[in-house]
Amino acid sequence: SPSSYQMEGGVDLSRANCRAKGGSAGFKVAILGAAGGIGQPLAMLMKMNPLVSVLHLYDVANTPGVTADISHMDTGAVVRGFLGPQQLEDALTGMDLVIIPAGVPRKPGMTRDDLFNINAGIVKTLCEGIAKCCPKAIVNVISNPVNSTVPIAAEVFKMTGTFDPRRLLGVTMLDIVRANTFVAEVLGLDPREVDVPVVGGHAGVTILPLLSQVKPPCSFTPAETEYLTSRIQNGGTEVVEAKAGAGSATLSMAYAAVKFADACLHGLRGDAAIVECAFVSSQVTELPFFASRVRLGRNGVEEIYPLGPLNEYERTGLEKAKKELATSIQKGVAFVKK
Ligand code: NAI
Repeated sequence: SPSSYQMEGGVDLSRANCRAKGGSAGFKVAILGAAGGIGQPLAMLMKMNPLVSVLHLYDVANTPGVTADISHMDTGAVVRGFLGPQQLEDALTGMDLVIIPAGVPRKPGMTRDDLFNINAGIVKTLCEGIAKCCPKAIVNVISNPVNSTVPIAAEVFKMTGTFDPRRLLGVTMLDIVRANTFVAEVLGLDPREVDVPVVGGHAGVTILPLLSQVKPPCSFTPAETEYLTSRIQNGGTEVVEAKAGAGSATLSMAYAAVKFADACLHGLRGDAAIVECAFVSSQVTELPFFASRVRLGRNGVEEIYPLGPLNEYERTGLEKAKKELATSIQKGVAFVKK
């Protein structure tokens, strides 16, 4: 197995074996879809994360090469590779955090919903494995359409009696990352100084930047509001078109996924005041799932914050977002129930 060190060239590697097994401080993280466009840079960045002690890389193709490559990095995390469905359970057993970027990405002209037919089944199968092998793990769902794949994951967990709404999070962080970048550009600020809440979901009009709540406090003209909202909502499509058939955002997504996973790990560790936006089981609106600011802690989502005061433009956007979200959520639920 890729996890066991033996005699190699006459050298006894059993001490490495001890370290790999020994619970050195840190968290155990699995990436499902680790050999993909997002998976590879995500694996690299997680290998660099000091909070990670064990990193499991699972995919249905190419994991041995990615694992060999990443495992040579001289950082703390022990890396193991897992290839194909018969190794899924080993990949998941004992994990604290599971990140899912498995599935097909968009090509020009496609919406995220066009990915549903392929990715719904992939996410369902992977979540069945999680329910069986690491039901207490925090799950970060990246696979699109997030607005449907998170409800799919929830249904699988409900059917297996393992659903804990605090532990299931759809990753919308890339929308926040883009919003911070684009807003900073308009304001002439360093993006690191800017914090834009983005709520709703992760597709088209469901991506709702709350420009009235940007920090530092600022104001935008109607033209700026229109430009920024549209650019944030279509940021993914901007990348899909620029890549012209070679896929969707992978590098900025891996960055965003690591930013989000790192926040989850800091929460798990018990750090205070870890707040990020995520698509979660929610009562903030009448919908069963909604993205908004949440506080992360030892159990995952410890607190969900209300949307706060919205202006007229945002209230109109919210109604549009909710309409599309309701359909996408229902589609996910129906897929598992059928
Ligand atoms: P990719 O095609 O480059 O990689 C996907 C990987 O998943 C491949 O290595 C493939 O072998 C693997 N895979 C396929 N079926 C699998 C299964 N049953 N189990 C495990 N692994 C499996 O795609 P890319 O660019 O990495 O995108 C992955 C997903 O992330 C897509 O659904 C994409 O739409 C989504 N995405 C989500 C974003 C977000 O903000 N949440 C942003 C960008 C992409």
